[in-house]
Amino acid sequence: MPPPDYDPLAPVNLRDPYPTYALMREHAPVLWHDRMQCWVVSRYADCVAVLRDHDTFARDPRRVGEALSEPSLSVQSLDPPELGPLRRLLMNAVHAHDLDGFAQRGRERAADLLSVLAEKETFDVVADFASPFSLESVCDLLGVDRPEPGSFVAASDAIMRSMDAGLRPETAEPGRLARHQLSALVASWFADSGKPGLLADMRRGAPTVGVPETYVRNTARVLFQGGYSTMVAAIGNVVALLMERPGLLERLGASEFRHCGIDEMIRYDGPVQGTSRTATCAATIGSTRIAAGQTVLVLYAAANHDPEQFARPDELLLDRSPNPHLGFGWGPHACAGTILAQTVLHAVVDALAEHPDRLCPSGSFARRRTATMRGWERLPAAFAPVTRTTSTEESP
Ligand code: HEM
Repeated sequence: MPPPDYDPLAPVNLRDPYPTYALMREHAPVLWHDRMQCWVVSRYADCVAVLRDHDTFARDPRRVGEALSEPSLSVQSLDPPELGPLRRLLMNAVHAHDLDGFAQRGRERAADLLSVLAEKETFDVVADFASPFSLESVCDLLGVDRPEPGSFVAASDAIMRSMDAGLRPETAEPGRLARHQLSALVASWFADSGKPGLLADMRRGAPTVGVPETYVRNTARVLFQGGYSTMVAAIGNVVALLMERPGLLERLGASEFRHCGIDEMIRYDGPVQGTSRTATCAATIGSTRIAAGQTVLVLYAAANHDPEQFARPDELLLDRSPNPHLGFGWGPHACAGTILAQTVLHAVVDALAEHPDRLCPSGSFARRRTATMRGWERLPAAFAPVTRTTSTEESP
């Protein structure tokens, strides 16, 4: 069988990429992609091997002689050992945060927003709930005033879309401009904001990390914008699943496996589909030779459905354990906000479970035309009175 012709933006793959990922894993696990000019890696073991070997597979393109613009210099782009102190500064700030308070405020924020939306005949889960809720949550986290939502959301979307510049080169320039715009916003917070939060902690620690302060400011921008856009996509994916499967919210709410159930939803249909690295020298993945300087796209989402790693990979099993999925990445660049993201998703599920009515679809859902970030463009919904469901068909 010839290698699958992989177009991440084809409607069939936007709707459901997992059958294509299965073909790739089986017939072309390390696939050369002409249009993106990179190798696409889809098997779990190969993905982890690439992410583990950061000597050979660089995140920082300067290691293969390519330039990196100043706004891109952040925790996201550096490699060990330069990465270490900056990443520690970020993780120390995350771990020092009052998570219980953040969780409590998140639950209240979600419940308040849902009770306002419940007054409407219909609303859009993405624009009217996930977006404002995620923006308030990242402002709370960093300890900053909420920026004007319209221009922030437009800039964040431009950055998110530019992650597909390999497929859609026209998204690169708007993304670059948006990074500049948000860098200026973050610089103003560094100069002015006096509230407690992650931003104040990072600013305080900036002189100790041995990298220019711009790197710390860019890291705060990544935290703010990356945290916002991934949360919007993750909340959309989780809420869509809950609406599509009556009874799932009850099983999740009542289940002792609630924590692993939410984690399983990230494995099953998470927002971040992949990440790229560049080979610093000739290397081998499986039996495929990779030349120095070539780019490798690690497909987290394909790895997360690999039957060699996960039993019944295409089923949502709320009690799946262990669940070493790659939905939050793996290795030195694994998600710095995992615990924050889990806290926020719990707050949303709690608020939905405690709401007297149930959220139901009120029109057709539409996927965003983006490849790196899998999310929804439109999720029309309405609250309807709870009906009793029988929930014996799936486990647990
Ligand atoms: C469910 C929601 C989320 C998911 C699924 C997720 C997933 C990921 C993944 C897969 C990566 C690695 C990307 C790569 O290798 O290129 C990543 C990186 C990152 N995430 Fe998240 N994320 C989520 C929410 C958040 C939140 C809420 C924050 C912070 C407020 C955050 C902060 C970061 C940062 C700073 C990085 C870069 C880490 C580094 O490169 O060292 N994430 N995330």
